[in-house]
Amino acid sequence: MLILSIESSCDETAAAVTLDGRTALADEIFSQVDLHKIYGGVVPEIASRKHIELVDHLADSALKTAGISKSDIDAVAVTYAPGLIGALLVGVNFAKSAAFGLDKPLIPVHHIRGHIAANYIAYPELEPPFLCLVVSGGHSLIAGVDGYTDFRIIGTTRDDAAGECFDKVARILGLGYPGGPPLDKLAQTAVSDTMFTLPVSKIEGREFDCSFSGLKTTVVNLVHNAEQKGETLAKAELASAFSKAVSDALIPRTIEAAKRFGYGKVAVAGGVAANSRIRADLEIACLDNGLTLYRPPLKLCADNAAMIGCQGYYEFLAGNVAKTDLNAVASLPLSTKW
Ligand code: KG4
Ligand code: ZN
Repeated sequence: MLILSIESSCDETAAAVTLDGRTALADEIFSQVDLHKIYGGVVPEIASRKHIELVDHLADSALKTAGISKSDIDAVAVTYAPGLIGALLVGVNFAKSAAFGLDKPLIPVHHIRGHIAANYIAYPELEPPFLCLVVSGGHSLIAGVDGYTDFRIIGTTRDDAAGECFDKVARILGLGYPGGPPLDKLAQTAVSDTMFTLPVSKIEGREFDCSFSGLKTTVVNLVHNAEQKGETLAKAELASAFSKAVSDALIPRTIEAAKRFGYGKVAVAGGVAANSRIRADLEIACLDNGLTLYRPPLKLCADNAAMIGCQGYYEFLAGNVAKTDLNAVASLPLSTKW
């Protein structure tokens, strides 16, 4: 089944052509980062306007790269939730018109389900059930993937998402936006990850939930105090201690959840899954605990449309097809049934 898929939930405009939920024949992405970084973060109105300018070009380009024409498409899949509402609406309306014009099914896809499905492209042999650590700009979840469209939330964040925390800490360290990648690079130059003691939260009665706001505030206070005293902070060592603290909050919980709920396979997904510390710690922890690790390449961790097409295939098989009254939804739990 050939699916044309569209992703426009944040600041990446993307279109892809995928085959049977496993193969990306084309995966076109325009990153708007350069437009937003002068503002220190994504400006929703600018993102929506850029999506409008680009979405049809990217779809055409995806068809061209895949070497197919519009009439070869079997269905159109689109991210309809969660994300910036104006940005989502652009993709949803484009996909609705494409599906209507081509007289093909329209498949609504949850963005985070898409991130999880990036693993199906990287690992064609991977099938549910497995446990997935989802860490993106807006979400931090430990989720049981019990079927392609059957998810159970085992743990989540009580406040900031991991990516949000990386971005805020990077900003206070003067690393620009998005902060995750430069902070990761800086941390790798550190001579030690123990120069700073940073908090790793525990939540009574909810052992698989985490919280990142205390960690973020501790780093902000450290930086402000140093500035006020005119002291120079060891930024690389702080970045490294911070990355370690995030990893220490996420990895042991993920491993414990896999053991407790009987998952032998552990996958990771979302933009923060590109973090070198998290990738390395997860690899060691899975090895030590006899768990098989699925860790997509960096390109598939970030937002893309191929992951939406692949999840779209399984949503279609489950009968999750929309009509032309499909609307975008800014916030929607992963486990919501269509
Ligand atoms: O999944 P994603 O591309 O978009 C959302 O759905 O939110 O994730 C973006 C987030 C940003 O917060 C970005 O700073 C973070 O992923 N990120 C990283 C790294 N690469 C991207 N965080 C830490 N280390 C990285 N190497
Ligand atoms: Zn994302």
